[in-house]
Order: sequence, then C-alpha cells, then structure tokens
Amino acid sequence: MVTRRWNDSDEAKASYVKDLFSALAKRYNVMTDLWTLGLHRLWKRQAMAQLALRPGDRVLDVATGTGDLAFMEQAVVGPEGRVVGVDSCAPMLEVARGREHGAVDFQEGDAMNLHFPDASFDVVTIGFGLRNVADRVQALREFRRVLRPGGHVALAGYERDEEDACTAAYGAVLRTGPEAAAVEGKRGRSGEALLQSPLFEAGECAAFRHEQEADEEGLLGRALSASYAPREPAAVAAFTRRLRAVFAAHQREGQVVLRYVTTVYLARRRG
Ligand SMILES: C[S@@+](CC[C@H](N)C(=O)[O-])C[C@H]1O[C@@H](n2cnc3c(N)ncnc32)[C@H](O)[C@@H]1O
Repeated sequence: MVTRRWNDSDEAKASYVKDLFSALAKRYNVMTDLWTLGLHRLWKRQAMAQLALRPGDRVLDVATGTGDLAFMEQAVVGPEGRVVGVDSCAPMLEVARGREHGAVDFQEGDAMNLHFPDASFDVVTIGFGLRNVADRVQALREFRRVLRPGGHVALAGYERDEEDACTAAYGAVLRTGPEAAAVEGKRGRSGEALLQSPLFEAGECAAFRHEQEADEEGLLGRALSASYAPREPAAVAAFTRRLRAVFAAHQREGQVVLRYVTTVYLARRRG
C-alpha cells in the first residue's frame, strides 16, 4: 500500500502515480474486473469500435498498463502492422509481457517525453490513463510529434456521472480519501483537453452511459477497495459512516445505482 503524501508539483504526482501502479500491478487486472464488475471489457471494445484501426497501421498505446488495449489493437493491425505499448511503470509492463499475446512490443517510457522519432505512428491511443498523467498538455504535444501528418489520437476514459445525485454524493465521499487528489483530482472529462488543443483538429467525442447497482455492503466494499481509500482505523470509520449516510439517503429497496460514462475522444493531427 502506498501511503506517502505528495505535494502539488507535477514531479511529485508522477512519482506518486508510479508508486501506486507499481504496488497495484500484480493485482491490477483482478482489481479492475472487481471495480468495474467486468464492464471495463465492454468500455475497451467501445473504444476500439470508435477507433476504426486498419490492418497495417502503426499504433502507439500510451499508458498501456497491462496491455488490454494494445492486444486488441494488435489483433486488428495484424502482422503487417505494429503496436508498441508504452508505460512509465515497469511492474505493469512485466504483467503485460507475461500475458502470452506475443506480438505487442512493450517498452518503458513517459507520455510526457516519448522516446520515438517524429511522425513514426499512424495512431496514438491512451486508455483510461490521461487522468494519471501529470502534464496533459505536454503529453498531447508529444502525441502530435510522434504522429504522422493526418494521424489520429484517441483518448478513452471513464468517469462517474456526477450529474446524478447519488453518484455525486458517493464521489464526494471518495474524494475525502487521503490520497484521492492524486487520482480523483485528475478526473473530470480529461479528454476535453484534446478538443481544446490547437495541435489537433476534427475532434469528436462519443459517450456511453452505464450504471451499476450496489447494496450497502457492495457500496462499502467498492469504495474501500479504491487504491486511495483511507487505511487508518479512525479514517476508515469516518469514511464508512459517510458512505452509509449516502446509502441511506439514496437507496431504493436496498439498492443504490451508480452512474458512469465512458468517453472516447478522437482527433486528427493538425498540419
Ligand atoms: C488506469 S491504468 C490504465 C491502463 C490501461 N491503459 C488499461 O486500459 O487498462 C493507467 C496507466 O497509466 C500509466 N501512466 C501514468 N502516468 C504515465 C506517464 N506519464 N507515462 C506513461 N504511463 C503513465 C500507469 O503506470 C498505469 O499503467
């Protein structure tokens, strides 16, 4: 468990995120299945459908983690294409390399300082990772640099839909966790940065809504399994009390509904 606090600098956030994913790496796939009740597979298929890759494409998957998107991409681009998966966290890449899908080239690297030549990819993707990158604008500069003219970038993400009152109340409790700001602070539609960037054009966003039901214990288990949930007994007790209050205020017949939205942002390199 990572308990170190971080200050507000980009370097401190990057180091916190690296430690967080290093500590999580071996459990990441199981935790993601639990946390999303398996829905992340659907979200990734939705992202792939928007992406419309072609056989032969050269694809860079940034913040590739344990490689889910990279493996899906490799299946489409085929042997005449190329997929490189880059992540700043070596233990996540170790898990990716152990997954027996062969052709993807996994390399350690930083989204904000990519070690690839200019114009060397047709498509850059980043799935469920931009919110963890300390400087998104610098990452977008790097994505543009490594894309060929006319190449595309795709950002997939998912967020709680906090227009919904119960989901907003749940999110507000999560943000009281001691390390939450490093991850939660980067939430919100992180892909909007792409639509606003002068480096890209023809931006579009597809959004898919999902909901998950939970009983009281399910809600508590879900919140307490967050990597940034409190661990100190007194803080856990306070966190649990707040969650129980959210449950009591919003439950209907012993269940609450949490709403999420998956977004896929696509844009073309300008110039
Ligand atoms: C939530 S995981 C997503 C992994 C994967 N794309 C998926 O969809 O399952 C976020 C990943 O971003 C990586 N990451 C965070 N900051 C990064 C950076 N600056 N450069 C490269 N990878 C980074 C983390 O190490 C982690 O593996």
